[in-house]
Amino acid sequence: MSSPNAKLNQWVQQMAELCQPEAVYWCDGSAAEYDEMCRRMVACGTFVKLNEAKKPHSFLCRSDPSDVARVEDRTFICAQTKEEAGPTNNWMAPDECKTLLQGKFNGAMRGRTMYVIPFSMGPIGSPIAHIGIELTDSPYVVANMHIMTRVGARVLEVLGPDGEFVPCLHSVGAPLAPGQKDVPWPCNTEKYITHFPDERLIMSYGSGYGGNALLGKKCFALRIASVMARDEGWLAEHMLILAITSPEGRKYHIAAAFPSACGKTNLAMLIPTLPGWQVRTIGDDIAWMKFGADGRLYAINPEAGFFGVAPGTSYDTNPMAMDSLQRNSIFTNVALTPDGDVWWEGMTDQPPAELIDWKYQPWTPDSGRLAAHPNARFTAPAAQCPVIDPAWEDPAGVPIDAILFGGRRASLVPLIHQSFNWRHGTFLGSIMSSEKTAAAAGKVGEVRRDPMAMLPFCGYNMGDYFQHWLNIGERSSAEKLPKIFYVNWFRKSPEGRFLWPGYGENSRVLAWVINRVAGKAEARETPIGYVPTPEAIDTSGLDIPADSMKSLLAVDPEEWRAELPLIKEHFEQFGERLPAALWEEYRALAQRLDGAAGAAG
Ligand code: OXD
Ligand code: MN
Repeated sequence: MSSPNAKLNQWVQQMAELCQPEAVYWCDGSAAEYDEMCRRMVACGTFVKLNEAKKPHSFLCRSDPSDVARVEDRTFICAQTKEEAGPTNNWMAPDECKTLLQGKFNGAMRGRTMYVIPFSMGPIGSPIAHIGIELTDSPYVVANMHIMTRVGARVLEVLGPDGEFVPCLHSVGAPLAPGQKDVPWPCNTEKYITHFPDERLIMSYGSGYGGNALLGKKCFALRIASVMARDEGWLAEHMLILAITSPEGRKYHIAAAFPSACGKTNLAMLIPTLPGWQVRTIGDDIAWMKFGADGRLYAINPEAGFFGVAPGTSYDTNPMAMDSLQRNSIFTNVALTPDGDVWWEGMTDQPPAELIDWKYQPWTPDSGRLAAHPNARFTAPAAQCPVIDPAWEDPAGVPIDAILFGGRRASLVPLIHQSFNWRHGTFLGSIMSSEKTAAAAGKVGEVRRDPMAMLPFCGYNMGDYFQHWLNIGERSSAEKLPKIFYVNWFRKSPEGRFLWPGYGENSRVLAWVINRVAGKAEARETPIGYVPTPEAIDTSGLDIPADSMKSLLAVDPEEWRAELPLIKEHFEQFGERLPAALWEEYRALAQRLDGAAGAAG
């Protein structure tokens, strides 16, 4: 088979000549094709079929223990110059990288099938959507792409004879010699996750896992799309999207960026505790936003599924995610129960008495090791989420009313504050920070700057990315642009107790956000932005002491002044590329803090 697109056919042919697969197969996206991939993977031990009565039409997958997460240190932005990639990305010169990868991909698919996956990021044909073609030698990638994107013949129809697509070449880098037996999870110890922003090309070698291999997600929808967005005047962001309906029945939309381990999927599927409010999910990881004719920003979720972290997900923490993954799902690196179901840490209070762990070893609660890998994942169709919004596939997208930034800070940052305007909001996003948890490498409590939660995902110089955000703010009027807020669910008392209960109670904060958008919530002006007055957050029915609320909303000018040198250091790494407007915001903040400290003293 081939496509109506000559450029595509030529590229597939060239890549087949380079990679030398045994066969080339064009994916049609059908259910039969998905089942065939799963059958093949069960046959070679990659997949275990789960108990049909427990998890219908679902599979457990074990990866190689060395291939379990995104590899940021092996991820490269191959812009023309190092300066264009910026100080926060690894860089390789495009020609050097191409020559190197030419060698790696030469014969890399021997003994395997090259699958051609035409996929749409976003509803097929939506003016906000874009098309990619992934070539891969991994049936695991094909099956996951079926869930995470829209795959198939319809995509080729929309592409037509001269439509644009992002070429995404992927190999696990494990060719098979004639007669050589395959392993359940082929991969290579050498990995290269490379992006060529000028050509809008992705080449990924050596890993079969998640964002390294499902190239529609981080590689395309964030790194390459951020470059497309810069060039074309839109936003490709690491943000969830949710719809929220007020007790008066008015529907609003929020996009929110948080670094990992800050509860993005939980917030996207939140069940409000505040009576009368309703939340619906549109996406849990990525938002593409383009201006509509009315000057508002319209967002789509470019993905079609959830690739969520399993450990910690439970009927207590996120019942809607749990309901989403009960069938038609793939579980990677979780544990297997004796009755053919899955389990991971945090799913139940009591672990099962015995399990097969993610490395396929017998496990009991006394084993002294984790049953599921901490980055174990579920891949589940978004359509299965009980609270998916009816408009989640609307090709026009949904109009965004508010953007939230946030991170995990035990002190300093109040529960919520609102920026003075778009430019100040961009400043808030640019200084986003989060404390490392015990799970991550580095000192616990150490602050990592993760601007707009895009640190590992921005495909160009982050200084220019800040400028792009400022430019977006010039494209429309203040009343049409989303209002920008900053949240911190993680503020602690001096004794180390979380002050805010989180989860469904976060609806109380979302209600304040929406009421601000609607112009009816009280706030006081502080040096860092607008902070709710204590009564402005509805805490009715919530057992939270008044002094906790006071601490949650406190802005301490002295503490903030101590933060200024850290912000300065963060900004200085971008040198000339840091927009002057952000230095102005920095100086204005310093001045307001001086004024507040003076007033207090
Ligand atoms: C993800 C991530 O997997 O941000 O979504 O790492
Ligand atoms: Mn993410």
